[in-house]
Amino acid sequence: MAISSKIQKALGNASWIRKMFEEGASLKRIHGPEKVFDFSLGNPVVEPPDEFFEELRKVAQNPIPGMCRYMPNSGYEDTRKTIAKVLSEETGLPFTERQIIMCTGAAGGLNIALKSILDSGDEVLTPSPYFVEYMFYADNHGGVLKLVESRDDFSLDLGTIEAAIGPKTKAVIINSPNNPTGVVYSQESLVQLGEILTRKGEQYGKTIFLFCDDAYKKIVYDHVKLPAVFSLYDHCISVNSHSKDLSIPGERIGYVAISPLADDKEELADAMAFTIRTLGFVNAPALMQRLVGQLTHVSVDVSQYQENRDLLYDALVDFGYSVVKPGGAFYLFPQCPAEDDVAFVRALQAKNILTVPGSGFGRRGHIRIAYCVERSVIEASLPGFRELAIQYGLK
Ligand SMILES: Cc1ncc(COP(=O)(O)O)c(C=O)c1O
Repeated sequence: MAISSKIQKALGNASWIRKMFEEGASLKRIHGPEKVFDFSLGNPVVEPPDEFFEELRKVAQNPIPGMCRYMPNSGYEDTRKTIAKVLSEETGLPFTERQIIMCTGAAGGLNIALKSILDSGDEVLTPSPYFVEYMFYADNHGGVLKLVESRDDFSLDLGTIEAAIGPKTKAVIINSPNNPTGVVYSQESLVQLGEILTRKGEQYGKTIFLFCDDAYKKIVYDHVKLPAVFSLYDHCISVNSHSKDLSIPGERIGYVAISPLADDKEELADAMAFTIRTLGFVNAPALMQRLVGQLTHVSVDVSQYQENRDLLYDALVDFGYSVVKPGGAFYLFPQCPAEDDVAFVRALQAKNILTVPGSGFGRRGHIRIAYCVERSVIEASLPGFRELAIQYGLK
């Protein structure tokens, strides 16, 4: 066998998201794409903002000499300075370009940050349900991801988190707004989380880092104000992405911001400049760095996502489903009418509705619906959701 036994095993447990996406592709070939309602992948349907294309045209029409060359591994200094200035204004903290590392989306950012801090066997905690790739990212760098169940409304279970932190805990990853649940963690719960990390760090005589996966930071609804994570805890590393806020996931651009208050912030910055190089990214894409430096105050219009959320959430509740109303991101995570979420996903699939079982995110008895789709797809899917609600006795 050419491939390692570890990868062989991982492939055998192929991600549910990809599985549903691929099965969806074959359903589309059979029935035609307009007859298949695909909620499997968080691939945003909204186009990038006009400003993105304007900046792209400007660069294309006035190429800068050397703009495609190698650069410092952390990225262009002017882009990092711009981001540091925005973060300083937002947080009141003295960010400089030293604390900013441009990276290839949140996925790349998490990998360079985890590789920088993990020794073999170190633990990384995350609330579950969770973004499954974290398991692989921790494992990539010798770490072990430890799951901590969230409450039924998907808020943080702080007592369980505190109990799960041990001498091997190196970091906690939170993701708010959250994939797969859409929840936004409250200010109070994050303040308490900061206190727990401080207490536990003192108990074990070490720094426990708080990784904030901020991939959905700008996709929030109903004027929800996200808690300012840097004010909650000193040893905070925020991992950002423009995949969702500028709708450019294929372009692979984001940045890591290390709190100016974090222990060993200089070493962390140097370590990430090293790991981005040695993991083979070398640096984040040059053209995208130039563009996003000009777009720090631009993001997609989230009203389409909010309308989708409202349409789908109201309809599902009306049909009798139990759903926590999301404050952001573009996912709903309703409870299934039966414990066997895989069977329920298959029943939806028989109606050409593609979703992902909650067990693929660490919580059985739920499904994830990615509603970053055209409104017409949601409208056309509703009769199927209603029929199954009736079939399963919800109404
Ligand atoms: C929670 C979360 N983190 C990270 C990522 C990775 O995003 P990217 O690398 O495109 O920024 C995703 C993608 O869907 C996500 O949902």
